[in-house]
Amino acid sequence: MLNQYNKIAHFYTILSKLIFGDKLHKIQQELITQLPTEGKLLILGGGNGEILPLIYNHAPQLFINYVEASSTMIRLAKKKAPDQQKIKFHHMDVLDYSHKHDQIYSGFFLNLFHEKHIKQIIKKFEKSNQTIWYVADFQINENTKNRLFRIIQLKLTILFFRLTTQHTIKHLPDICLVFSCSGYSKKNRSSSFVFWEVLKK
Ligand SMILES: C[S@@+](CC[C@H](N)C(=O)[O-])C[C@H]1O[C@@H](n2cnc3c(N)ncnc32)[C@H](O)[C@@H]1O
Repeated sequence: MLNQYNKIAHFYTILSKLIFGDKLHKIQQELITQLPTEGKLLILGGGNGEILPLIYNHAPQLFINYVEASSTMIRLAKKKAPDQQKIKFHHMDVLDYSHKHDQIYSGFFLNLFHEKHIKQIIKKFEKSNQTIWYVADFQINENTKNRLFRIIQLKLTILFFRLTTQHTIKHLPDICLVFSCSGYSKKNRSSSFVFWEVLKK
């Protein structure tokens, strides 16, 4: 649905820093170093555009399709995008965006969806067996450090977003498992918090 994030768009970065410190930013910073430097990249739910200058510094020639449902987030992202960046903003629900891509970036976005919808999103956007997803997201497993703390932290975060943005999901989806069931394998290392490039097996 459109514009659900409008009321928190201006506070999003500060809220995320209050809850997670610099962690979410650092993870995306590291993931961006893995991105291709040419071709087209689809960004799903890109938010306020914090990542755009980082992507430009890494890959000034990369063409970006930036799909985001919140008009305020898009406005903020347009301000953050470097003037020379090759980027097209699409103010729409990702489910209404109909082009397939070989390179797809998703930062703390897929966790908003139920597993069955994540599966549909993967199918909807993957172009071929060569498709690579660059995913940064939450993940709790047996290797998670401070597991109980992380579980409580994420439960409170989910509750916060349910109250402020009307998200319907009540649990943290197992994004990794959905990719694995959709025929992908992780290319790079994984940590308790995030995973990286996922390629078709
Ligand atoms: C949790 S924020 C993450 C933002 C950004 N990727 C980041 O890491 O800072 C999720 C973003 O996805 C957008 N969003 C949520 N549902 C969406 C949908 N169905 N289609 C497109 N964007 C959506 C929200 O407006 C919000 O900006």
